[in-house]
Amino acid sequence: MRKLTSSELRKLWLDFFASKQHAIIPSASLIPENDPTVLFTTAGMHPLVPYLLGQPHPSGNRLANVQKCVRTGDIDEVGDSSHCTFFEMLGNWSLGDYFKKEMIPWSFEFLTSEKYLGIDINRIAVSVFEGDKDAPKDTESAEIWEKLGIPKDRIFYLGKKHNWWGPAGLTGPCGPDTEMFIDFGRSCSKNCSPACDCGNYLEIWNDVFMQYNKTAEGNFEPLKQQNVDTGMGLERTLCILQGVKSVYETDLFVPIISAVEKVTNKKYGEVESEIRSFRIIADHIRTSVFMIGDPRGIVPSNVDQGYVLRRLLRRAIRFIKQLVGEALLGIPHSPILEIVKAVISVYEKAYPELKQNENQIIKTIGDEEQKFEKALSAGLKEFDKLCSYLQGDTISGKASFRLYDTFGFPLEMTVELASERGLKVNEEDFALRMQEHQQKSQLGAEKKFAGGLADNSEMTTNLHTATHLMHSALKKVLKDDNVNQKGSNITAERLRFDFSFGRPVTKDELALIEEEVNNAIKADVAIECSEMTADEAIKKGAIGLFGDKYDQKVKVYKMGDFSLEICGGPHATRTGALGVFKIKKEESSSAGVRRIKAVLI
Ligand code: ALA
Repeated sequence: MRKLTSSELRKLWLDFFASKQHAIIPSASLIPENDPTVLFTTAGMHPLVPYLLGQPHPSGNRLANVQKCVRTGDIDEVGDSSHCTFFEMLGNWSLGDYFKKEMIPWSFEFLTSEKYLGIDINRIAVSVFEGDKDAPKDTESAEIWEKLGIPKDRIFYLGKKHNWWGPAGLTGPCGPDTEMFIDFGRSCSKNCSPACDCGNYLEIWNDVFMQYNKTAEGNFEPLKQQNVDTGMGLERTLCILQGVKSVYETDLFVPIISAVEKVTNKKYGEVESEIRSFRIIADHIRTSVFMIGDPRGIVPSNVDQGYVLRRLLRRAIRFIKQLVGEALLGIPHSPILEIVKAVISVYEKAYPELKQNENQIIKTIGDEEQKFEKALSAGLKEFDKLCSYLQGDTISGKASFRLYDTFGFPLEMTVELASERGLKVNEEDFALRMQEHQQKSQLGAEKKFAGGLADNSEMTTNLHTATHLMHSALKKVLKDDNVNQKGSNITAERLRFDFSFGRPVTKDELALIEEEVNNAIKADVAIECSEMTADEAIKKGAIGLFGDKYDQKVKVYKMGDFSLEICGGPHATRTGALGVFKIKKEESSSAGVRRIKAVLI
């Protein structure tokens, strides 16, 4: 097996697929552009959904990249040896081009060839789909693996729970997959398989054969084309290649963990029970840095992505306080920033946006730290008050939930404070309230996003076109080049657009913006879409989000002289189709970010 560093592995992956005629595309933003159903990009395929559904991709039908991903569903498992909330996915795609008989031998070659990873074939196990009412048993994949030399007893047939991937949101492309595992040779029983959670098998790569579209009704319809979507976890694979026990001991994490050691004045690994805290701090700060440093940078808030960021940051701060063993309040401001800087220096070459946005990252985290400190101190006062009125010796679920919800007190903290005073907490009732809260916010997120651009209806498409016109009008009227898109969400009823701007937009300015957009509509210009490199688009003065690869092909939508913007579409064919544009509301979205809601009537 070859011992590779993280940068070597990224490069090897891209070189391998380039040698198989794949175009290398940049990592997309961590925030999905047009997916109404999820908060974060959770897999490399996510930004490629329209192309998996059949739209031609500007770079061709063989693609590969390294994609930044966030998954917070497993947050409670962070701290074990392999789970992280942020990870990099090495991915490659066939958009209706090659399929199983090319992909599986390539996977085998990349894993076992001395030129690539050089993993001993005896350490590899695979699983394939066992078949059900939606799709047949995948004997074809199993036969290919067998021909390549994987013995039958290391090819496992598993059901949908294990060997089916997607869709990434509620609907969309999905299919059976074949997964590749490292077999540690210490299976727990005769029946041990990759479905077992004894830890003998570590999944490192997944080849998905995307041939179905899951509909809103829950049916699986065959897609127009047979696609391949694969994903290899960078951190996990490094862990194997570097022969270390956990992802936190790979070259990606060593400098971050050592920054945690420095600021807490503790040694990682010395006290068994503290290992998890070290890992949680490193993981959560790494994810926060990527969220804030993203081209669609997130700021902490009480909703959606901002809420996830807030939770991660506050959880990290709390674990630092716990490790340092000081009182809840008063850990100095600088420790967390040392860890932030360590994260940036590990990743600045691969993700230059982190260095570019360093000041913003440091300021955002510093501000949030202060806010948390204030909330904690208010919460401690509240806690004292609560104790002085308490009848009996148990703090109710309602009171502990209020401490959590309003003051950011995690349950374990309330329990700890209570026990210092000889009190208990009704944890069961707290758990019920928590569950209710999570269901509500889940519903909230889905409802808020429901019917977004994904529905492709005429009204939604027109509002998307209006969003472009408004974006240009904002820049023009506010005479501020720093007015940039921070978020967009479009339903058939309204558009919602978040943009960076430091003060409320005045009534007069809003009227001028409306007028600009309505003039563009009245001019009834044709909307033209062309493809060019990001570099050319910038030279032409296009606005919109660019990746970090300027030679990448992008689509640019031109609306007469009114708007030129990089975008995946879809749009109306003429501006005249839009009707009358009206701004309904202008408000603050978060610090330094304004929000406009507008309609077409
Ligand atoms: N989309 C597949 C995964 O995330 C490759 O595992």
